[in-house]
Amino acid sequence: MTGDSGAQQLAVLGAGTMGLGIATLAIGRGVPVVLVDVDQERLSTAPARLRKELRLAQMMGALPRDVAAGRLDLAESVTAAADATAVIEAITELADLKAKVHQEIASVVRPGTLRVTNTSSIPVDELAGQVPSPEDLVGIHFMNPPYLIGTLEVVRGPRTGDRAMASVASLLAALGRKGIVVGDGPGFVTSRVLHRMINDAANVVEEGRASVEDVDALMEGCLGHPTGPLRTADLIGIDNLVDSLVVLHERTGDDSFRPSPLLLRKVAEGDHGRKTGRGFYEYGVL
Ligand SMILES: NC(=O)c1ccc[n+]([C@@H]2O[C@H](COP(=O)([O-])OP(=O)(O)OC[C@H]3O[C@@H](n4cnc5c(N)ncnc54)[C@H](O)[C@@H]3O)[C@@H](O)[C@H]2O)c1
Repeated sequence: MTGDSGAQQLAVLGAGTMGLGIATLAIGRGVPVVLVDVDQERLSTAPARLRKELRLAQMMGALPRDVAAGRLDLAESVTAAADATAVIEAITELADLKAKVHQEIASVVRPGTLRVTNTSSIPVDELAGQVPSPEDLVGIHFMNPPYLIGTLEVVRGPRTGDRAMASVASLLAALGRKGIVVGDGPGFVTSRVLHRMINDAANVVEEGRASVEDVDALMEGCLGHPTGPLRTADLIGIDNLVDSLVVLHERTGDDSFRPSPLLLRKVAEGDHGRKTGRGFYEYGVL
């Protein structure tokens, strides 16, 4: 996809793993962002977390050093998205919550404003069926971390309009990302394929066939997977992974998406991966 970047002003909903990463990408490319979250603590720690991620991304050469950073504003209410040229929703992977939040977004933005969901697994049309002007709603599945991974999945629902697709092209041009447009459906392409593999990797460990380290070493060394499925689970966040697996299982009836008991135990024990300091592996203080 290509497009004219134009003047962008983003509202990003959710200051968690993905919302913060998307905001870092935008700000590092000089695009101003208003970051919205209902969790005050998440919001108050966001500027320091963002600065750290931005420095890291610039050190790695993933974001330019010679671009003036975009302005960051924080807000607790979606009403702060009123002047945005595009709204990116990156909140918890719960379909009812996302539908409610998308209704709120549609009620505050100017007509024709691009509305994006960063869902990993919920069909775009399921959300589009519950909001006004569904033609302005598109899925953009940013990968984690968004400032490092240059390719992303653009999900065009059956009701998504041409104007929204043109706005997506402009947004991705401003963010320096390459979008690959795919059809709608549970998990689209990437989560449908990846989440099943991660779930199976957890089941292999649960059955005692191989250790966590050996599963990852085999998938990395033999099959060229860059981080191994279980280290990837830690990067995604095991809580989010389980939410996505539940969406996939409920909507497809395919038992290979039924969350592994090992994943469920990790969520219950608070071992959600990198974001909590422990998942399949241990991490230092973030
Ligand atoms: N983690 C990944 O690797 C990854 C990758 C691609 C897409 N996604 C998707 O991105 C979305 C966010 O995932 P995450 O991993 O960042 O989750 P997360 O749990 O780290 O963050 C979710 C944030 O949403 C906030 N939130 C909840 N309700 C809200 C509301 N009504 N208004 C504003 N904020 C609200 C929470 O307080 C939290 O800060 C999910 O849909 C997920 O499936 C995740």
